[in-house]
Amino acid sequence: MYKIIVLISGNGSNLQKIIDQVESGNIKAEISAVISNRADAYGLQRAEKANIPTITLDHTQFTDREAFDQSLAQIIDSFSPNLIVLAGFMRILSDPFVEQFQNKLINIHPSLLPKYKGLHTHKRALEDKQKEHGASVHFVIPELDAGNVILQGVVPVKEDDTEESLANRVHQIEHIIYPKAVKWLVEGKKLSLDEPPKIYLEPI
Ligand code: GRF
Repeated sequence: MYKIIVLISGNGSNLQKIIDQVESGNIKAEISAVISNRADAYGLQRAEKANIPTITLDHTQFTDREAFDQSLAQIIDSFSPNLIVLAGFMRILSDPFVEQFQNKLINIHPSLLPKYKGLHTHKRALEDKQKEHGASVHFVIPELDAGNVILQGVVPVKEDDTEESLANRVHQIEHIIYPKAVKWLVEGKKLSLDEPPKIYLEPI
């Protein structure tokens, strides 16, 4: 059985969509565990409801990033997963961690990479008067938000958009593309990393 570990820090709405597709049989894999660095992450409750084992690893209990990452890597390794899915995991992972799980570690970033790496992506897209914005599922490499993109979701930016309305629209497309990218990886689909496919929420 193909094994997935999901790492979260918060709400876990993307986690929920992946759980839903595993439960419906569309993604033929097992979510072996959901790990959070915060005990109050709502996503932990979502996992419990789906009978998925949960683990909290509180980063404030560690002296430094390396110690936390080592402990996290050990826990992940104990499940021998095929894929590690970052779904709103709000921590930078150190290079040794990323290298250890190279090609098995994916993230979703709220922009059409390589545009708007880093934070405040919706605000920056609005300031630049972009006509389109979106989200990218990508492999994680040591350089931030720079790994190969697997799949992108595109949404229109509307005249009267606020940061919040745009963020909500991006979230909608995230919920479509993240489970789809996970499904592709589970099925070993040949990826077109040179020119990643795009899914449009609505015509632009
Ligand atoms: C998403 O917006 C994603 O782009 C970012 O973190 C957020 C997670 O949202 N990496 P949720 O916890 O899945 O609702």
